[in-house]
Amino acid sequence: MTAEAGDFKFGSVGAFDDSWKALPASERYHFAAGEPAHQVQFAFQNHWRVFQKVMGHTTGGRAIELGCGRGSMAAFFAKAGFETHLLDTSASALDCARRNFEADGLTGHYHQADALATPFPDNQFDVAVSIGLLEHFEDIAPPLEEQIRILKPGGVFLGYVVPERPVSVQTVGAPLNAALRLWDRYTSSETRPAAPPKQELYRNTFNSTAYLDVLDRLAVKNRGAFGMFPVPLVSHSWKFPFTAMSPAAEKRLMATWRTLLAARPGKDAASPDPLRDPWTCAEPWGLAFLVWARK
Ligand SMILES: C[S@@+](CC[C@H](N)C(=O)[O-])C[C@H]1O[C@@H](n2cnc3c(N)ncnc32)[C@H](O)[C@@H]1O
Repeated sequence: MTAEAGDFKFGSVGAFDDSWKALPASERYHFAAGEPAHQVQFAFQNHWRVFQKVMGHTTGGRAIELGCGRGSMAAFFAKAGFETHLLDTSASALDCARRNFEADGLTGHYHQADALATPFPDNQFDVAVSIGLLEHFEDIAPPLEEQIRILKPGGVFLGYVVPERPVSVQTVGAPLNAALRLWDRYTSSETRPAAPPKQELYRNTFNSTAYLDVLDRLAVKNRGAFGMFPVPLVSHSWKFPFTAMSPAAEKRLMATWRTLLAARPGKDAASPDPLRDPWTCAEPWGLAFLVWARK
């Protein structure tokens, strides 16, 4: 099965491509090797720490990010020494990923292809990871089957899913975001251009059980799921969550999150158990959940 451009129920390929084309060429990704500049880079560093715990002894080999977008997650794998492959339907997204990789001296292998029908033989990769891809499919079985197919026996599948949900930790952040937007509107002298119309992206509402059911049919050795991203995204921007606040405000926010995360009872960032990591949480609370499996 191949995704059609504009077919919103199969990866929202056309809508994504349009938004990648509109991205300025200078756009940076969400990877940072050192101190993060803003909350999204901070979040990706936390994702990576949790992913490493799930991967356990799989610390190298061939990794692929499907639906890589600008390549933020792939960059962590490349930096850690994996032979890193990046796959996306959008040529503009891959261009952006390539520019970012080159700027950071990272090596990637780029594939403009469909995650439903990748150009690889069976059993090729030690890790197949996606962030924000699987929730854009109405039928989640085909992309899961494809990712498990291209994994080597013993390889790790990581599916980070941001589902459509009326209530989550973001609900807690909503009044703060509304207040920040009002404050910004009435205190800033900057003229805001009108917000561009939002592209309609299909998002399914499945929780992790639906993904685990598919994985069970695919006869993986081991699998699991848990909530992730236990703090809300905070922004004053109508482009939310894609525009950072001022560098000082982002720094203060990250310091606050660090303090709160370190104080979570029963959690310990140094523990190798991902469920004890402060970045993991109950699935209904988190902004996202991770479904993982070992083939
Ligand atoms: C929400 S974005 C996530 C991008 C990136 N993983 C990140 O974390 O920033 C989803 C990406 O999946 C890509 N995509 C959508 N459907 C796809 C498909 N069928 N095959 C490959 N890529 C697809 C889109 O072009 C887009 O870059």
